[in-house]
Amino acid sequence: MHEPSGAVESARTAHEVGAGSTSEPFSPSPAPKRAELYHPQLLPYLESLVPPRPSVLQAMEAHAKATNFPIVGPVVGQFFYVLTRMLGARRVFELGSGFGYSTAWFALAVRENGGGEVHHVVWDESLSQQAREFLGQLGVLEVMRFHVGEAVQTLQQVGGEYDLIFCDIDKDGYPASLPVIKRHLRVGGVVLYDNALWSGRVWDESDTSAATQGIRELTQMLTRDTDFATTLLPLRDGVLMAVKLR
Ligand SMILES: C[S@@+](CC[C@H](N)C(=O)[O-])C[C@H]1O[C@@H](n2cnc3c(N)ncnc32)[C@H](O)[C@@H]1O
Repeated sequence: MHEPSGAVESARTAHEVGAGSTSEPFSPSPAPKRAELYHPQLLPYLESLVPPRPSVLQAMEAHAKATNFPIVGPVVGQFFYVLTRMLGARRVFELGSGFGYSTAWFALAVRENGGGEVHHVVWDESLSQQAREFLGQLGVLEVMRFHVGEAVQTLQQVGGEYDLIFCDIDKDGYPASLPVIKRHLRVGGVVLYDNALWSGRVWDESDTSAATQGIRELTQMLTRDTDFATTLLPLRDGVLMAVKLR
């Protein structure tokens, strides 16, 4: 019943054409501004597989829906939780944390890894305050470190080395964030960027907005940097994930 959009089709064709020759550059083709990326049942199905979660997380999801605030949602949240447990991460830094929904998944995992530090950074005082309240209700304040300010500058000021760094700031700021994140990521550590698919706008050549260009540039920077092994997970709006090799 649900036919893949032309945008998804053209991306698939480009991938298939390039499958045998690694040097073929990807050439974008016209696509709707906001493409339907997946079968309509995919995300509900994946959500149905997320184990029962604390009521505070559910309240945060309801709050995001009521206020139309963009959060990563439970499927990506559960992925962050699993990844953080797999890495045994004790030190996590998050850039662009909103009211703390994605932070909550990292905090739960770090606490279960034996404790550590999860840095929440947002430039809105009121969002930082909301995050303190929600994460307090969740009972994870002992691992939390809150900062109000520009996220990349804050990472530079706070310093330190991290096992995992998650970036979800304004998209035009993505390219400039990478050198700073790279400096503060330990070898073997993982960097994550949200919205790597940007609802399909990344392959719409007519979209030259600063946000879309920022995501494209960051994706090229990361995938071409041989200090990283990088993959783009088509989960929700796309999660770009890279491990620092050296
Ligand atoms: C997409 S929301 C974060 C959602 C969060 N990751 C979640 O899933 O719960 C991004 C937030 O970061 C803030 N922000 C964007 N760019 C920022 C920057 N450069 N420094 C600090 N905060 C930033 C925005 O105001 C917004 O509150």
